[in-house]
Amino acid sequence: MNLRRAKFVAAFVVVGVLVVFGITFTASPTPKSLSAAANKEKSVVTKEKKILKEESVVTKEKKILVVCYSFSCGNTRKIAKQLQVALNADYAEIEPVTPYPPYGGWDSEVTRQGQREVEAGYQPEIKPLTVNVADYDVIAVGTPTWWFRMAPPMLTFLHSQDWTGKTVIPFMTHGGWPGHVIADIKTICAGAKFAPDMEIQFDSQGGADMLTDQAEIDAWIDSVKKYLQ
Ligand SMILES: Cc1cc2nc3c(=O)[nH]c(=O)nc-3n(C[C@H](O)[C@H](O)[C@H](O)COP(=O)(O)O)c2cc1C
Repeated sequence: MNLRRAKFVAAFVVVGVLVVFGITFTASPTPKSLSAAANKEKSVVTKEKKILKEESVVTKEKKILVVCYSFSCGNTRKIAKQLQVALNADYAEIEPVTPYPPYGGWDSEVTRQGQREVEAGYQPEIKPLTVNVADYDVIAVGTPTWWFRMAPPMLTFLHSQDWTGKTVIPFMTHGGWPGHVIADIKTICAGAKFAPDMEIQFDSQGGADMLTDQAEIDAWIDSVKKYLQ
């Protein structure tokens, strides 16, 4: 090997070594690049935490509506109002387009009309609600018992809504013969989730004396609140 050729080989080796070292050096994480990566990671985690926090705030701020039908003595309305206050909810009442004849105790025309309607599965026309039910996440529905089932205007209302993805709080009032109102509500609202339900008993003469203890109602409302948390 002459001197010129030896110089060339030496230069080639030196350049090769520098290139290899250069690549290795830039590819390996330096303390500086490590801390930058850690900072980036930290900011992603912080962002994720923030999103989670925002989502849980949204979860807590569910829109709640209490809807009831009440006819004889306002028994169902009385319970509905308690629930509305406790849940800080909006409130709406169902009203049939054609009013029922006035209530005059068990032996009145409406008792017989109610029986005919319930047994036929009749759904009377109802007035539009003052709210849009679709805007709410949680809807409490309360009805008096009529001939062991829900009152017909409530039947119309339940059939007029899409319950998919909603949470329903079923409740009803009765005079000692509760029948299967709650089960019927759950069947019609298929696709919904159900919060704890409640049957509240009033006197057997169809009057306004409440026989269920207020403490039981309070405990139910507490259980609904817990369910919704
Ligand atoms: C037409 C009609 C049918 C009724 N049928 C029943 C019944 O089957 N079982 C029962 O326990 N109470 C029955 N009741 C009594 C009511 O369910 C009870 O008094 C209820 O609390 C009334 O609620 P409101 O004042 O909100 O209308 C009936 C009342 C009416 C008007």
